[in-house]
Amino acid sequence: MASDNLGVEYTFLGNSGLKVSNLCLGCMQFGKSKSKIHGAIFNNPRQLLEEASHEVMSKYAGLGGNFFDTADVYSFGESERILGKWLEANGRDKYVVASKVRFTTDQTDPNKEGLSRRHIMASIDRSLDNLKTNYLDLYQTHMWDPAVPIIETLRALNDLVRINKIRYFGCSNVKGWQLQKIVDTCKEIGMSPPISLQQQYSLLSRYSELEEFEVCANEGIGILPYSPLHNGLLTDKFKRGAQLAATDTRVGWLASFPNPFFQWDQYKDNDRYYHLIDVLSGIAKKNSRTIPQVSLRWLLQKQSVASVIVGATSVKQLEENMCAGKGWKLGDDEMEQLDEMTNVVVEYPHGRLNQSSANRIGSNPFLKH
Ligand SMILES: NC(=O)c1ccc[n+]([C@@H]2O[C@H](COP(=O)([O-])OP(=O)(O)OC[C@H]3O[C@@H](n4cnc5c(N)ncnc54)[C@H](OP(=O)(O)O)[C@@H]3O)[C@@H](O)[C@H]2O)c1
Repeated sequence: MASDNLGVEYTFLGNSGLKVSNLCLGCMQFGKSKSKIHGAIFNNPRQLLEEASHEVMSKYAGLGGNFFDTADVYSFGESERILGKWLEANGRDKYVVASKVRFTTDQTDPNKEGLSRRHIMASIDRSLDNLKTNYLDLYQTHMWDPAVPIIETLRALNDLVRINKIRYFGCSNVKGWQLQKIVDTCKEIGMSPPISLQQQYSLLSRYSELEEFEVCANEGIGILPYSPLHNGLLTDKFKRGAQLAATDTRVGWLASFPNPFFQWDQYKDNDRYYHLIDVLSGIAKKNSRTIPQVSLRWLLQKQSVASVIVGATSVKQLEENMCAGKGWKLGDDEMEQLDEMTNVVVEYPHGRLNQSSANRIGSNPFLKH
């Protein structure tokens, strides 16, 4: 590992004046859930308790990272509380703090879920309390909510900006038309549109390129890829045919019970997956890097990506991931090879429409949709 490249660069987050490090520290693996809600992920034995979480946070900040991503539901609020304690001890104002709202925080109360004005107003206060701060830099809708009028959600978010509880808002887990509707509704009611889109994005998950990221490019929205190593699969940890222990890796844990988030069965005998790992290994060796570093670097070189949200269950993993941030690049040929190998194959209409548009893209340099 080339430690001279440990660190980050700073970039604007979308069409805004906010500067963030190009590697953001994801806080989903901090804290264990005491609740049955969302327990599937947060009872993972790989989750870190407070002291180990603080070590990872301090290492991240020591390497120049200034951007933390958490959510009200991560470990049932424990992730926010752990981060809040760290921020209190280390100077909150030096950091860009992001959280999210949308999923249920109390299954017995129908108003503690969704993107209603009521839930947003209650959830922000709980998040601020947990994080020991009086403002969030970025507040993100965790997923589209089909049960609530989008204008209600946006007016509530705008009010939070006006009363200084949040500085900016962003979105996560939306389809292309939903993101465009959010942007257009913001313009209609005279509020600032979202500055960021947090979406699952990696060499093993590129569906958002089809629609959502086109909206980002047209509207100046910064992409924040999450699960950039696809839960840890973009490493050389998983050998074909090996039995996975539930306690050794997140993938092993997720493979140990049926869940809607991730299916190990899709990968364990998948030639395409192992071939990708071989190619990544070759590129990594050529560049004196590792597979995670090449995978993160590929994301950083993609259009509209502002900051990649990395996860780490140890300081060692974090240091490895932080070597993707600055001082080196993948060559055009390496980017193309990885692009081609992992391209999402789409049928009509997407495939055909994209192909027909290709020769017109960029032909009018003045055009902004
Ligand atoms: N908006 C959303 O809906 C959403 C959803 C998911 C995540 N997120 C955000 O995105 C952040 C990152 O997502 P993620 O945790 O899924 O990212 P990821 O990078 O795909 O997976 C992280 C896991 O991979 C393993 N890993 C990481 N670096 C490694 C390395 N260098 N070598 C070997 N193993 C390594 C670790 O698990 P093991 O050591 O246990 O194998 C780690 O916990 C989250 O913390 C959260 O902030 C958002």
